[in-house]
Amino acid sequence: MCGIIGYKGPKNAVNIVLEGLKSLEYRGYDSWGIAAKSNSKIIVEKKEGKLGNATLDLDSNFAMGHTRWATHGEAVAKNAHPHLSNDGNIAVAHNGIIENYQAQREFLTKQGFTFKSDTDTEVIPITIEYHMQKGYNFIEAAKRSLKHLEGQYAIVAFHADEDSLIAIRREAPLVLGIGDKEFFVASDIPAFLKYTRRVIFLEDQDLAIINSDLKIFNLAKDIPVKREISTIEWSPEQAQKGKFDHFFLKEISEQAEVVSRATAIDTKQIENIVKEIKEAKGIYFVACGSAAHACMHGLYLFSKIAKVHVNFCIASEFPYFQHFIVPESLVIAISQSGETADTLAAIRAAKEHGAKVISIVNVMGSTLVRESDRSILQGAGPEICVLSTKAYTSQLAILTLLAYALANKFEDGKAMIKELMRHIYYLTSENTRRFVRRLAEKLRYAPSIYLIGRGLQYPTALEAALKIKEVSYIHAEAYAGGELKHGSIALIEHGTPCIVFTSSETEKDIINNAVELKSRGAYIIGIGPKNNMVFDFYIKVRDAGEFNPLIQIIPIQILAYQLALLRGCDPDMPRNLAKSVTVK
Ligand code: G6P
Repeated sequence: MCGIIGYKGPKNAVNIVLEGLKSLEYRGYDSWGIAAKSNSKIIVEKKEGKLGNATLDLDSNFAMGHTRWATHGEAVAKNAHPHLSNDGNIAVAHNGIIENYQAQREFLTKQGFTFKSDTDTEVIPITIEYHMQKGYNFIEAAKRSLKHLEGQYAIVAFHADEDSLIAIRREAPLVLGIGDKEFFVASDIPAFLKYTRRVIFLEDQDLAIINSDLKIFNLAKDIPVKREISTIEWSPEQAQKGKFDHFFLKEISEQAEVVSRATAIDTKQIENIVKEIKEAKGIYFVACGSAAHACMHGLYLFSKIAKVHVNFCIASEFPYFQHFIVPESLVIAISQSGETADTLAAIRAAKEHGAKVISIVNVMGSTLVRESDRSILQGAGPEICVLSTKAYTSQLAILTLLAYALANKFEDGKAMIKELMRHIYYLTSENTRRFVRRLAEKLRYAPSIYLIGRGLQYPTALEAALKIKEVSYIHAEAYAGGELKHGSIALIEHGTPCIVFTSSETEKDIINNAVELKSRGAYIIGIGPKNNMVFDFYIKVRDAGEFNPLIQIIPIQILAYQLALLRGCDPDMPRNLAKSVTVK
């Protein structure tokens, strides 16, 4: 949540920071701001709303930027970052929460300092200023300040009279980009991918001091440290829209390749993970959002294909369930970003009980990867749209392959996924998009849409409802077909749209449910291998058995996209959301 970027180097820093913010906007888009250094002065520009053009026209080579998802204080310009110290000499951009900001603010107020915003962040530059007034230099004052600031945060800061840009990582993502005589620091790699693929993933409590060179100091150990430079495989084009109007559509369209890449997982790595799953006493999936729906599929897939029982818990609820975890337990955490605060809290709770953690993650070097005993990297490429599409299907592909590997049929699983490629291309093609648009036109004014499925189609219905509601703001709710009669069917009126996912396995029962809905006036949309007279609208998706989740969600991703366009909603940045939820 919130994107931060800093730059120090020979290029025009304001332009680089603005450009970087565009790639980070998925992390928050309530307001934004830039601070740049010019002739020993810090100039700041802050604005409410989504990123626009800066009027700052400075030839500075020292700047920072921030795009905000509000936690403390309304989304108005005065609360946008960067924030300054009272003397205007220290600028700070921050992602995370300063948990003791109220006490700190009271303390600083008593010392005569004043505050211009309602944020927790403003205590950071003012605390540094307080320590500088005591005679410490900027870096020493920053170190001392951090000892007083509790919480999880990533910070970029500089001082008007000093040549250093500092960056601190404390349980919130921050990565350094190493260019030719230039340095970048950002919440995520796409912010500087155009300029360098050489990165340093800072570790917890690392303080990077960027001058003409780079020094890293670990605050917890109180020693200078060396961190390895990694080269990342993503290309700059992968983080750009290319010929597409929106990342949402681009990422939907990439799913055939992404799923195919999942089949390239190293066999040895899978064998090791299979061994750990077999040895574990109690296996628990944890995740949030779409990744949680992938986990729910995992339950069905592990049970059906591998006859292995797995438990699932939404990551934010896991701390309340953790009591039965023992050292022999295995937690499998799934996360696109690898930075979701609730998922990290869940694995940390599990580790406290001595359990092993395996993760399935898209972002290399992320906190989840570093804190897991083993990780599978998804290789789905950067996912920029706030809604998860390709990362979700890639997680499904990996989970299905894992289930096949557990049943000693890994190669069969891979072959079956490869067979689906053409169908995935077809489902994401212009033809399908045009056809699904007809449905979107029918549904664009619907107050509610209901979705039902059974078996593997139930988590698909949950994910489909999430896609529709988060981007079109139409109320959408999913039910297991059998649950309808236990209450929800009372909501059905004449014309209520109900989307019914079918498969050969569930057909008989789910069609009965569809008929019950239709008898109460519902408008039935069928998605599955076979048309049926109960359907008012039908989208054919072939029957791929255990691989159905990989393909049945695609028409709904497209429907959600079309609904967003028809209703004038931003498909890439829905209101109130952020892609990477780094606060609890
Ligand atoms: C946010 C995003 C979702 C995502 C969820 C979990 O809510 O908007 O698209 O599924 O976080 O994110 P993760 O990075 O852990 O998969």
